[in-house]
Amino acid sequence: MNLRWLNLSLVAIVAGLCSGGCHVAPGRPEAVVTRPDQVTDFRVLYKQNCAACHGEDGRYGDAISLDNPAYLAIAGTANIQKVTADGVPGTLMPAFAKSQGGMLTDQQVAVLAQGVVTAWGRSSALGGHTAPPYASSTVGDPAAGEKAYTTFCASCHGADGTGVVQGKLHTGSIVDPSYLALISNQGLRSLILAGQPHEGMPDWRFDLQGPAARSLTDQEITDIVAWLASHRVTTPGEFYPHS
Ligand code: HEC
Ligand code: HEC
Repeated sequence: MNLRWLNLSLVAIVAGLCSGGCHVAPGRPEAVVTRPDQVTDFRVLYKQNCAACHGEDGRYGDAISLDNPAYLAIAGTANIQKVTADGVPGTLMPAFAKSQGGMLTDQQVAVLAQGVVTAWGRSSALGGHTAPPYASSTVGDPAAGEKAYTTFCASCHGADGTGVVQGKLHTGSIVDPSYLALISNQGLRSLILAGQPHEGMPDWRFDLQGPAARSLTDQEITDIVAWLASHRVTTPGEFYPHS
């Protein structure tokens, strides 16, 4: 069959299919399809790339809430942009920048970092307090961390960190090697600094009326992270280490 015949039979088929009444309105505009790397709307980018893990509207996801004004104030746009571009190796947080093997342009990464801060940040987030720095610059002492843990955390996470089920308070283990295998030390620090307000986890200021009646210091947070991290094992998920 030569090409002309093929064309003619295609026309016939299409005509046949449309005999029941296809409407191809003349002059109807084609659907406007935005190329994925041209999307610059924060809400669209967030929904497509982040909501699955950080939650619809930045909360109630499996990963840290991004709608937490204290987190946004402590981390700041530059750190958020860097993590979004580069990801966190060894965790589920992917690298999004094309230069790092991701799918987003530098401009889209910048829109996301600026977007979370604009959408969910608040200038009054720290209530006049000076937060410890986002990243630690000192080495933690696990033994000191265990003491600080007992003072600040044990009431909600259990004496040994394996969790509490008490009335409305339900916490999972934060010393389980399988949990610790999926979170970085900065990830733990960020949670302690900024809390998880929708789940009842206080930020570093703590409940100032509580047992310690003061905020956590930079060093205490570093020490608690070192204590938690000391529960990591090289073969998470296996009951017995390889000999
Ligand atoms: C007033 C109760 C309370 C106190 C005090 C508290 N937490 Fe929490 N914390 C929670 C709740 C509730 C959650 C959310 C439930 C969960 O994830 O287990 C949580 C979550 C966490 C998580 C995240 C767990 C996850 O699944 O991602 C970490 C890590 C954590 N807390 C560490 C600490 C540390 C360290 C301290 C002490 C500095 C502390 N918490 C103090 C209530 C508390
Ligand atoms: C597949 C799940 C997943 C997706 C998708 C994801 N994240 Fe994450 N994200 C994580 C996890 C897990 C962490 C905690 C990493 C760690 O332990 O430090 C994290 C951490 C972060 C942090 C750093 C928190 C801190 O400790 O300061 C930022 C910022 C962040 N994500 C932003 C984003 C943005 C923006 C997007 C969308 C472009 C996104 N994430 C998509 C899982 C995800």
